Amino acid sequence: MALDAHVFMTTMEKRVGLTAEDKSLLKENADWGKGIASEMADHFYGYLGRDAEMDAIINAKEGRVHRLRETFIQWFHEMFTGIDDWGNAYADRRWRIGLVHVQIGIGPQHVVPAMATVVNAVGQRLKTDGKDEALRDALSRICMIDLAFIEQAYVEVSSAAVLRETGWTEGLFRRLIATGANSM
Ligand code: HEM
Repeated sequence: MALDAHVFMTTMEKRVGLTAEDKSLLKENADWGKGIASEMADHFYGYLGRDAEMDAIINAKEGRVHRLRETFIQWFHEMFTGIDDWGNAYADRRWRIGLVHVQIGIGPQHVVPAMATVVNAVGQRLKTDGKDEALRDALSRICMIDLAFIEQAYVEVSSAAVLRETGWTEGLFRRLIATGANSM
């Protein structure tokens, strides 16, 4: 059940509809993205800080918020540069980010609204700066791909852990899930 991050990236690109034009547009605006990354981090951590549960997570360790701000800024900029043209290095990095969140116990209920705040905040800034709607669409698409990586990591890690602990086959596991969902 181990996920191939490179294949997943290609699948998501197609599914989300991230085009060559989107990529060019993102690259052309990479400096703009870098310039607004700190402001986006303010929105993001302001939002997390207003939720008691998420605030406790981001402040659980000394220096964590500070480190998070730095990693957020880098993550945000990478959406514009694509690291290696949204190739294997990009996919590996996004998969790694997913795994880090699973380790900390951050689930879909935290990540989905958090990503929505990024999409919103960047949308506002695009308007203020008179940027093209096409850039907003391209950014929304890459945000959705990044979100899919974090969400999928949650499912993959949980499933792999159950299979490892129980020795169940993947088929049995899937049947149990389907039966469980049926009885809810
Ligand atoms: C849009 C969604 C999110 C993005 C893009 C994001 C981005 C990142 C990145 C790039 C890292 C560094 C990963 C690494 O070390 O390789 C990270 C780590 C982390 N994130 Fe997030 N994150 C998101 C959502 C959240 C949410 C909702 C929370 C809290 C409720 C959270 C809390 C953390 C924590 C605690 C770490 C580990 C910090 C440490 O090194 O101690 N993240 N995140």
